[in-house]
Amino acid sequence: MDWLFLDVWFMVISLVLVSIWWVIHKEIRRKKKEKEEEEMEKGIPRGSSGWPLIGETLEFIASGYTSRPVSFMDKRKAIYGKVFKTHILGKPIIVSTDAEVNKVILQNHGNVFIPSYPKSITELLGKSSILQMNGYLQKRVHSLIGGFLRSPHFKARITKDIQNSVQRSMSTWLDQKQQIYLQDETKKITFEVLVKVLMSIGPGEDLKFFKTEFEEFIKGLICLPIKFPGTRLYKSLKAKERLVKKVKGIIEERKMSMDKPKDEGVTNDAVDVLLKDTDDVQGQLPLDFMSGNIIEMMIPGEETVPTATTLAVKYLSDTPAALARMVEENMDLMKRKAESSEEYCWNDYLSLKFTQNVISETLRMANIINAVWRKSLKDVKIKEHLIPKGYSVLASFSSVHMDDQNYENPYEFNPWRWEKTGSTVNIQTFTPFGGGQRLCPGLELSRLEISIFLHHFVTKFRWVAENDEVVYFPTVRMKRKLPITIIPRLPKDH
Ligand code: HEM
Repeated sequence: MDWLFLDVWFMVISLVLVSIWWVIHKEIRRKKKEKEEEEMEKGIPRGSSGWPLIGETLEFIASGYTSRPVSFMDKRKAIYGKVFKTHILGKPIIVSTDAEVNKVILQNHGNVFIPSYPKSITELLGKSSILQMNGYLQKRVHSLIGGFLRSPHFKARITKDIQNSVQRSMSTWLDQKQQIYLQDETKKITFEVLVKVLMSIGPGEDLKFFKTEFEEFIKGLICLPIKFPGTRLYKSLKAKERLVKKVKGIIEERKMSMDKPKDEGVTNDAVDVLLKDTDDVQGQLPLDFMSGNIIEMMIPGEETVPTATTLAVKYLSDTPAALARMVEENMDLMKRKAESSEEYCWNDYLSLKFTQNVISETLRMANIINAVWRKSLKDVKIKEHLIPKGYSVLASFSSVHMDDQNYENPYEFNPWRWEKTGSTVNIQTFTPFGGGQRLCPGLELSRLEISIFLHHFVTKFRWVAENDEVVYFPTVRMKRKLPITIIPRLPKDH
């Protein structure tokens, strides 16, 4: 009797609970639908916020480990259109895969969209990082660095410096049983070049210190934002402290050796540029600010430029017709230079048309900086989409670069496609260096470095590349660092 009574009670309670759950669930769905309809009416992009807390992060990361990292974007684009809503890396975000929308996001003058990077990046770069700051200081540093990198004095000197680094490195390769890891070799060269551009430091103990500490620092750029002894972020922050101390010492020493801040002498490096700039209102830039920005500008030496160079070699290895054309063009320049006994200059390299097309095609396919992160300061309407105030926005470059409406057979490495448009034209559908007021000031320097490397590489060596694949997460790189066996092209290079 007692059992029967308990069973009935159990059934009643279960029924009540199921009914409550059903009513709540229905109410939540009704509210969600209402909200979606309301948002749709306003023009807020549609999408899914995935699981509680993690959102759609796992799928986003998983796509980065495949050969088609834009599959995450493609899937949502097919359901919701080119601009959609998702929830990744801890925040709700609107993703744009539309070139026109991206253009508006990039072009605005800091009064609508401000940078908003994931937490590990913000922690490591700090508040005074040029990538994160907005307004007067960003413009001031951008124009100082851009002006220096475009100056004729810099262009003449840097061409020689890069050539020396490239030739010095290549001359050691033949001692390494002719098997090298190209990704490591390009990193050594581009890091050495950039540390020289930034602080006039050449090969030696200081360079070794910067390379070791910087490698430790950069490992934490994309990681879990947890900060206590032993965690990745903590180790990287410690490395940054050591870097800041060293850079501050170098700046202070330089400051003392200058007669006065506005010293008329030649500006040799980024430290000189920042020290000589004295603003009428704010005076000289603070020491912490200068050192933080110098460290941040080492990133292209360790990451972006060597990756682009390595990937160009990878794509050329897989595309014999493009390699043959590259060799022809570069051999031609080498012969002309040998006959005239003239030194190479910046323009010699940048006038190599096919080589520039190879670089553009590499930047399009590799998508080293695959997107920029912003936050809207007010409600903004772009085309038919409303981006509400306070929302994070990801302008995806890789989706635009790999869209077959923009590029025929986008997964095919085809440098010839640039013959129609011209490779250096910064068109709406080609934004490897970003755009607007934050357009990368290192654009020309990067192209020069890659061109010089490729010129000497293809004219000096034949090579056989082992099987390797491109990985896209957390950063773009070759899985096995691209092992290659080199064979000198001419007997004198033995
Ligand atoms: C292949 C190589 C490179 C690529 C793909 C690249 C890409 C980019 C992109 C996409 C941005 C815009 C970021 C944003 O809008 O938030 C940027 C900014 C920047 N880049 Fe590069 N970059 C490269 C090399 C370099 C080099 C060699 C330097 C030299 C110092 C450099 C210095 C900077 C600086 C200082 C900024 C910040 C500009 C600002 O916010 O005002 N980059 N880069």
